[in-house]
Amino acid sequence: MKQQSEPVKVLFVCLGNICRSPTAEGMFRKLVDDNGLQHRYTIDSAGTGSWHIGSPPDSRAQIAARQRDIDLSSLRGRQLEPTDGEKFDLIIAMDENNRLNIKSVLPTRHHHKVRKMGDFLSDTQSPDVPDPYFGGDEGFSLVLDMLEQACNGLLQTTSSSASSDAN
Ligand code: 4NP
Repeated sequence: MKQQSEPVKVLFVCLGNICRSPTAEGMFRKLVDDNGLQHRYTIDSAGTGSWHIGSPPDSRAQIAARQRDIDLSSLRGRQLEPTDGEKFDLIIAMDENNRLNIKSVLPTRHHHKVRKMGDFLSDTQSPDVPDPYFGGDEGFSLVLDMLEQACNGLLQTTSSSASSDAN
């Protein structure tokens, strides 16, 4: 069991770490801050791919997020590492491929920490958050809509059980 004083450590993961997962990081951080819960959480994001290490979020993701009062400009891409399994309590994939790729990187003993973002939506099908990178602006808007709902679900789930394991 975690002590109440220990933060819940959440890592959002996508493929490139320039569209979905930094958006989720910025959105969840704002939600947590707005609820005065910043001391209860550690929040980060990463990508399974290496193409965008050190890069800021995609400009389309930054513009779409800014329209909802979320600032992603200080974030930089990084690649998921095997040691992230040790460092985080919840590792949240954006889609099914992503979930499988995360499991191929993390040691088996940490696989129980891996969830999909869709698990925190009211939809019982746990839908994928679709990759907006090769599409138009409407894809970024859909990502924000899905993440907004899922971040609220994640906050509800974790804030009521912040003193227990993510198992
Ligand atoms: P993300 O989107 O996984 O939501 O960050 C992508 C960004 C870049 C690429 C693919 C997906 N890429 O192939 O470079």
